[in-house]
Amino acid sequence: MSDTAPPVYAGPTRVLSGIQPSGELHLGNYLGALKKFVDLQDQRPFLFVADQHAITVWQDPQKLASQTREIAAAYMAAGLDTTKATIFPQSAVRAHTELAWIFNCVARLGWLDRMTQFKEKSGKHKERSSVGLYTYPVLQAADILLYKATHVPVGEDQKQHLELTRDVAAKFNHDFAVPGFFPLPDPLIEGPGARVMSLRDGTSKMSKSDPSDYSRINLTDDADAIAQKIRKAKTDPEPLPDTLEALKARPEADNLVGIYAALTGETKLDVLGRFAGQGFGAFKPALVEVAVSAIAPIGERMRCLLADPAEIDRVLAAAAETASAVAEPTLDEVRRIVGFWSPRGR
Ligand code: AMP
Ligand code: TRP
Repeated sequence: MSDTAPPVYAGPTRVLSGIQPSGELHLGNYLGALKKFVDLQDQRPFLFVADQHAITVWQDPQKLASQTREIAAAYMAAGLDTTKATIFPQSAVRAHTELAWIFNCVARLGWLDRMTQFKEKSGKHKERSSVGLYTYPVLQAADILLYKATHVPVGEDQKQHLELTRDVAAKFNHDFAVPGFFPLPDPLIEGPGARVMSLRDGTSKMSKSDPSDYSRINLTDDADAIAQKIRKAKTDPEPLPDTLEALKARPEADNLVGIYAALTGETKLDVLGRFAGQGFGAFKPALVEVAVSAIAPIGERMRCLLADPAEIDRVLAAAAETASAVAEPTLDEVRRIVGFWSPRGR
């Protein structure tokens, strides 16, 4: 054992995240991801549209590019300023896939075998899933480490993928004897919006793939739809409790209080402090008010932005250049570290 501590990553802080263009965005995506991106925008985050991740399950080629523009519009409509955030399509920076290949040779089968999202998404028909779906977290590690990102705001369902990213970074640094080359990025997950549950069932996650539209609030829902979905949300007959302990045993109540808290930037306990002892007849209208004022304007801005797709394309193209200028030098260093041939090489 050496008596000096191993060097750790000493580069600058970088915030990075991505969202797949594989369906309509909902309140879970907003509170778990988008809202955090906006809160962090002064750190000049790199935010991409994960179209290469989206094609791990079938995507209609006629629609993929427009879905990509929709996610870009959602980023901007949620409040991201394109002079601060670099918003680009993943596939426009080709270095992602090249680094992913190298990382495929660093990550171990046993690590991927443990990924719960693959098990959920592949279901009973694992042998019919794409190989891409299996190796998806390795591409995610490449997305993050290509930019030497140090902080990754995501919802709780991404926690395991972030752990795998850290494992890939640590093994690469170790195997190639380049301590501190890649950072071990920290996930930013905390807060009441990290895991928003279905409005119909407080034990399952709010998701794009739930067949019931009443299970989620879409970012494109108008004020009436938002109000109606909250009015119809499953609840129980009891008044709201005054402790988190008592709330925990009531998944639907817990979810609605968590949504309220995440929307207003309070803690769940703050919300209980105001509503304890009151029933859902009083709480739901208050929730409608905060949800409508946060979400309805996003849908309106998205529609406006999408009326000018050429402007979205201009933003994406410029950002792809900015991102490439950061990504390419990292990839060049990695190619050299791995020992690939180059005309001036070893
Ligand atoms: P995806 O749409 O799967 O690309 O997810 C985009 C982001 O939204 C990721 O950071 C997810 O963790 C987050 N997310 C998705 N569903 C939820 C949810 N129900 N609650 C909180 N965050 C979520
Ligand atoms: N896997 C993420 C999701 O489904 C999307 C994603 C792809 C991502 N690459 C990323 C998130 C890199 C953060 C960092 O939500």
